[in-house]
Amino acid sequence: MKVLIVGGGGREHAIVWKIAQSSKVHKIYCAPGNAGTDGLAENVPIPATDIEALLEFVKSKKIDMTIVGMDDPLMLGIVDRFEEENCPIFGPHKAAALIEGSKVFAKDFMQKYNIPTAAYKVFQQYDEAIAYLGDINYPIVVKADGLALGKGVLICNTYQEAEEALKSIMIEKKFGTAGSRVVIEEFMVGHEVSVLAFCDGNTLVPMVSAQDHKRAYDGDKGLNTGGMGTFSPSRYYSKDIAEQCMNKIFLPTIRGMKEEGRPFKGILFFGLMLTKDGPKLLEYNARFGDPEAQVVLPRLKTPLVDIIQACIDGELMKVNVEWYDDAAVCIVCASGGYPVNYEKGYKISGLNKFHNNKEVIVFHAGTTSDGGQVVTNGGRVLGVTAIGANLDAAINKSYNAVKEIYFEHMHYRNDIGRK
Ligand code: AMP
Ligand code: GLY
Repeated sequence: MKVLIVGGGGREHAIVWKIAQSSKVHKIYCAPGNAGTDGLAENVPIPATDIEALLEFVKSKKIDMTIVGMDDPLMLGIVDRFEEENCPIFGPHKAAALIEGSKVFAKDFMQKYNIPTAAYKVFQQYDEAIAYLGDINYPIVVKADGLALGKGVLICNTYQEAEEALKSIMIEKKFGTAGSRVVIEEFMVGHEVSVLAFCDGNTLVPMVSAQDHKRAYDGDKGLNTGGMGTFSPSRYYSKDIAEQCMNKIFLPTIRGMKEEGRPFKGILFFGLMLTKDGPKLLEYNARFGDPEAQVVLPRLKTPLVDIIQACIDGELMKVNVEWYDDAAVCIVCASGGYPVNYEKGYKISGLNKFHNNKEVIVFHAGTTSDGGQVVTNGGRVLGVTAIGANLDAAINKSYNAVKEIYFEHMHYRNDIGRK
């Protein structure tokens, strides 16, 4: 079977790596891919958002399955378009991807289906939003409605900070039309856990839990990033909490989306906060997390391609999804200055030490090949994943591996997995 993966980050490298382990798959393409997917897959220089060019490519190569890693093509309706042409594809339709694409939609949906979440209010008018700021307790969280590369969420400790946040989103339009509506919500305290789930529209199968480290620097200091490292499993996601999440959050979501006429097929990502009043939902994403995929997929025992095929066919119920007990840790090596300003084009050394290593996998994110030499090409450059019998073993293994890798101005956090 021939498979195309759409995207070019660390998450897509992890998907390619996992798919490549299936004996059913004899050819993988990745569009556009990176220096890490090159070899395992054939990189195709088509941007992930050029849906018509991707469709043409899939038809010309007679590709049996397309897996969408990134959010942008999903929001643009890649799944709807491929299905119109009878090309099998894994991901939510545009109508279902709105669960990530609009925070207002997501919050109203949670409220309608009684899914525990932070109390909130939606504003379209700047003056009304400002007036509301006088009546509430701080901290609060201000969120732009639409996609903003993970930067549209601002935690405000004071009235002044909240006023600044509203001004930047609603007046200065820092995130463009993503900020034409805002959500102002209660600040929740607790441990954050990411749980991803396979969905076929009717059935939902949660994956093992993971924890992300969103801030750029040690001790959760600095700006929010796409994620500086992850580990799996979470230390706080007990069986009891998992059961509460299943009954109060996951199942109401898959059922609610069906009821709304937006059945969700694809990967549904639940961003959870474990509060003293029980688990609450922060947000949904309509795709694998990055770098959550880099710790969850190495723990998956059942062939990924079989699970995805079952989701496409609406037969997820028939699959027994199994996991390894091992722990996994992923440390992101970023370009110095990320997430603000950083340079590209630095040579990366030390990568060949990990070829064919079963316990340390270096997933590429922002990398490219310059005349055979792998060089940096983005903010998050590599995700170094290690697998161990427990979290401590995996943490040590991944930090030892990171020390073998070098590029100029390389930055990583020293406290991944210590939460
Ligand atoms: P989101 O994109 O909605 O997940 O927000 C990004 C990050 O902001 C989350 O991962 C949390 O760390 C933080 N955050 C968002 N909403 C809240 C909230 N209501 N209370 C506390 N932290 C939050
Ligand atoms: N790591 C968080 C995300 O993928 O959105």
